[in-house]
Amino acid sequence: MNQTQTQEKFDYLAKSFAAITVDDIEVYANGDAPNGKYYRTYNQREALAAIPEARTNRIINKVCDDLGIQYKYGNTWRVNQLEINQIKEFFNSKRKDASQNKKPTQAQIVMIGILKGGVGKTATATMLATGIASLPSKIYKVLVIDLDPQKTASSQLVPNMKANEISIGDLMMDDSDDDTFKIKLDKSIKKTNFPNLDVITSSDRDRQYDIYVRSMEQAADKAGKEYNSYKDLKRVTDALKSRYDIIIIDTPPHFTASNTAAHYVSDHLIMPVKPSEYDWDSAGVYMSFLSRTYGVIKYLGHQGFKSTKLLISSISVNSNAEARTAHKLRLAAGIENCFTASIPRSDAIISCAEQRCTIFDISVSEFDGTKKSLMKAQEAGAALVNEFEFMISDANKEL
Ligand SMILES: Nc1ncnc2c1ncn2[C@@H]1O[C@H](COP(=O)(O)OP(=O)(O)OP(=O)(O)O)[C@@H](O)[C@H]1O
Ligand SMILES: [Mg+2]
Repeated sequence: MNQTQTQEKFDYLAKSFAAITVDDIEVYANGDAPNGKYYRTYNQREALAAIPEARTNRIINKVCDDLGIQYKYGNTWRVNQLEINQIKEFFNSKRKDASQNKKPTQAQIVMIGILKGGVGKTATATMLATGIASLPSKIYKVLVIDLDPQKTASSQLVPNMKANEISIGDLMMDDSDDDTFKIKLDKSIKKTNFPNLDVITSSDRDRQYDIYVRSMEQAADKAGKEYNSYKDLKRVTDALKSRYDIIIIDTPPHFTASNTAAHYVSDHLIMPVKPSEYDWDSAGVYMSFLSRTYGVIKYLGHQGFKSTKLLISSISVNSNAEARTAHKLRLAAGIENCFTASIPRSDAIISCAEQRCTIFDISVSEFDGTKKSLMKAQEAGAALVNEFEFMISDANKEL
């Protein structure tokens, strides 16, 4: 290829890849929820699993009748995620033990991070967020912050997001007064197909944040002032801590100013690792990075992580080699520093990701793919989410 042909080929590739994204958005962002997805629907059996307090078909029907929720569509029994939350709220308000309804006043901030690409950070972040948002009985208020300008979590959780929407980078690069900042912050929060799950999305523009940090440092230096980039993200999380129970931050796979800031604002660190030799190596590099940089973060006022846990991600259930590597990882880290649950490599996870979903965005009854594979993935996901909830409620006890 000569220079012109090379240029033409690159132009062609850029155009056809952009077209795939547009096609995908047209197909997967046409639903009835604010983020363009369809609200998850539940049949009666699934609704009873989501709300164990309802106990019987008759009781759940009666509660639906009392709340004015339609559930009969011909011969089909169906309610959607909004209605599930309404029914959960009804039962929660009836609880005798008022302490169960008491909300913590401060969100637990959980960073999903490791300086390695493609290990399942985003899959973990979106699975935990939608999983904890749809836990049986409970209604946790959850916020996801997508700190990765690749926008993977954003496009999975908010498939209909627009390029000009206010991103997390826009907020971190904002130097307006507190009132104007608050207006921008409120605008940046995107609603999803779970009434109790919101997202602050990322944007291509967020890649400029490192340059912004350098220019702010230079300007501060000239003026004899101090500028600390970590505080840009803290301004956002401080403003939101009282509005959510859990804030989950998905991070980029490399060392950036925003990635370091995520450590600074977080209470918990979850490190997904694939059970392969290469990922094992890079997990080691990350541990050494943490051990060298924590002094700086501590100096700036970090109060210490309440938990730091490795999570074995995308493990094949049929591979002895992967089982051995996972075992090696667990031994090296120590059991107390690892999740007992792991995320299996699953066709359902891939199939859901293709549709810009997670395994908790959809019920088995409405899934077009292999139902058994979704059921298994949801079972494994639920074990992880339960462990995650335990970690959060343990930390809430300290508040
Ligand atoms: N348990 C799983 N089973 C099957 N596929 C998975 C699983 N976890 C992740 N994947 C797939 O692997 C790929 C990488 O996952 P993901 O995007 O979550 O990794 P990441 O660490 O966030 O990557 P990056 O560093 O680029 O942000 C995706 O295509 C995702 O759908
Ligand atoms: Mg990612």
